[in-house]
Amino acid sequence: MNAEFKINGTQIETERLILRPFQQSDLDDFYEYASVKGVGEMAGWHHHENREKSQTILDRFISEDKTFAICLKTSGKVIGSLGVEKYGREEVLTEFYGYKGREIGYVLSKDYWGKGIMPEAVNAVIKYLFNDLYLDFLLCGYYLFNVQSKRVQEKCGFKQYRKLKAETKLGTTEDMILNLLVNPNKNIKFNFSHPETLIYQED
Ligand SMILES: CC(C)(COP(=O)(O)OP(=O)(O)OC[C@H]1O[C@@H](n2cnc3c(N)ncnc32)[C@H](O)[C@@H]1OP(=O)(O)O)[C@@H](O)C(=O)NCCC(=O)NCCS
Repeated sequence: MNAEFKINGTQIETERLILRPFQQSDLDDFYEYASVKGVGEMAGWHHHENREKSQTILDRFISEDKTFAICLKTSGKVIGSLGVEKYGREEVLTEFYGYKGREIGYVLSKDYWGKGIMPEAVNAVIKYLFNDLYLDFLLCGYYLFNVQSKRVQEKCGFKQYRKLKAETKLGTTEDMILNLLVNPNKNIKFNFSHPETLIYQED
């Protein structure tokens, strides 16, 4: 089942970053990284053609209150986002009935790739969701071509769970891997359904 989740003013601090709710004054920083070609496309959405597009998404981030702004501690600049999303196919993935989870998604400004920033942000959010909110599991996916995102998920301890196909906002269908991370503080053994897409190997 999808867990209830709202950021509700929570701030998470890491060595280099502050994760906090988005605010209206983030528009310039948001548009700066979201308008770069080839960034959103790796996550299945078109880069923003104008500020109005960024404003629409920013309004949604603020009203839905489930997407953290990733800010540099030194300058306060917003350099990415990390969403604690509802996972899809909830009725089909029967192994999660009676358990609480969410799906993580993220994007980082191209100027900051390759410095381990997203693993730092994702690890901090995992810690918060498992240790403070007691979620049972997290999902995180990547399209097969996205080796950068694959690496982030490996570095954060996610394990390959299912091989699926996904429709993107770009109008394409992509092969994707959905990864799973189980809360290590809990003794959970899932009764997995749908063996035809399952690639999970238990320890
Ligand atoms: C995926 C993403 C968040 C990674 O963030 P990051 O902070 O750069 O992550 P890392 O520094 O750990 O780098 C991850 C991998 O990217 C690759 N990489 C690093 N710098 C790179 C660069 N400048 N160009 C291309 N690839 C690069 C490396 O293979 C690295 O793996 P390694 O550490 O084993 O060498 C970032 O690339 C991004 O925002 N991509 C576009 C959006 C996206 O794909 N979102 C995820 C959708 S599932």
